[in-house]
Amino acid sequence: MIFKSHKLLVEHLKKKVKSSETIGFVPTMGALHNGHISLMKEAISQCDQLVVSIFVNPTQFDNKKDLEKYPRTVNNDVALIKKYINADNLTVYAPGVEDVYGKKTVAKTYRYDGLENVMEGANRPGHFDGVGTILEFLFKVINPDQAFFGEKDFQQLQIVKKLVEKQKWNIKIRGCPVEREPHGLAMSSRNERLSPEAREKAQLIYASLQLAKKYFRQHSIKNTQKLVEQLFEKEPDFELEYFTIASEETLKPVTRKYKNHHYRGFIVAHIEGVRLIDNTALYS
Ligand code: PAF
Repeated sequence: MIFKSHKLLVEHLKKKVKSSETIGFVPTMGALHNGHISLMKEAISQCDQLVVSIFVNPTQFDNKKDLEKYPRTVNNDVALIKKYINADNLTVYAPGVEDVYGKKTVAKTYRYDGLENVMEGANRPGHFDGVGTILEFLFKVINPDQAFFGEKDFQQLQIVKKLVEKQKWNIKIRGCPVEREPHGLAMSSRNERLSPEAREKAQLIYASLQLAKKYFRQHSIKNTQKLVEQLFEKEPDFELEYFTIASEETLKPVTRKYKNHHYRGFIVAHIEGVRLIDNTALYS
C-alpha cells in the first residue's frame, strides 16, 4: 500500500501491524537502486513488516540546483520494491512536501556532539539539520523497531545513531555495507547522471580507496593523503573535494596513528558536475 498522507499511514499501521510484530524502516529519497534494495532485504530478514519512505527532503539540500535535479521516480521505485518484497509485508510512504512540513519548509537545529561540524557538515551547511528534521518526523510517524542505513553515507549513519541515543528513542539503527557496481563504484542515485565514459572513470574513487587501504598499513596519514591527492591530480576530469582520514568514532580528522584505533578514509569527488561520495575502513 502507498500512502501520501502521514495521518492515513499512522491509521494503516495501527491496523496492519500486530502488537507481536516488528517494523523495519528504510528511509529513502527515491531513485532506488540495488543499494536500497539490499537495505530492504536486510530489513525484512530482521523484522516482520517493512516500511519504506520515498521523499526528496528539501531541507537537507544546501544547493537549490541539486534539489531541482534530484530524480523523482516514485512509480518506478514502487515497482522495483515490489519485485523483491512481498506486498503483504510492505508499506510505502511517499508524501509531498506539505504533508511533512505543512506551510513552513524549515529544518530544526540539532547538536550531534560535533559529528555535524566535519566533512559533509562543514561542506554542506545545514545538511544534517535537514536530515535530523526529516528523520525525527518519520521515526515519530512510523515508530519502527529498527531502521536501516547504508555505510556509503557513513557520517550520516553515525549522526543518526547519535540522534537516536540523545533523544533516547527505542530504535535500533543498523548500518549496512556499501553496494557497488561491478567495477567498484558505490551505488548511488547520482550515478545515473554520469555519461558512460564518466561512469567508467569514476572507478578511480573506489580504486584510490583500495590503494589507500593497502598503503596506510605501512605509511603515515600524511603520505596516504598525498597518494590519493596525486591520483586525482593525474585525472583532469575529476575534482577531488576532499580525502580525509578520520577517527571512525568521532569523525575528527587525524594526523597521527595510534594503536588499536579505528580509522576511516572519506572521499568526495566531482565528475561531470556530479558529486560522488565513498569511504573505507583503514587498518594500521
Ligand atoms: O540517505 C538518504 O537518502 C537521506 O539522507 C535520508 C536518510 C532518506 C533522509 O532524507
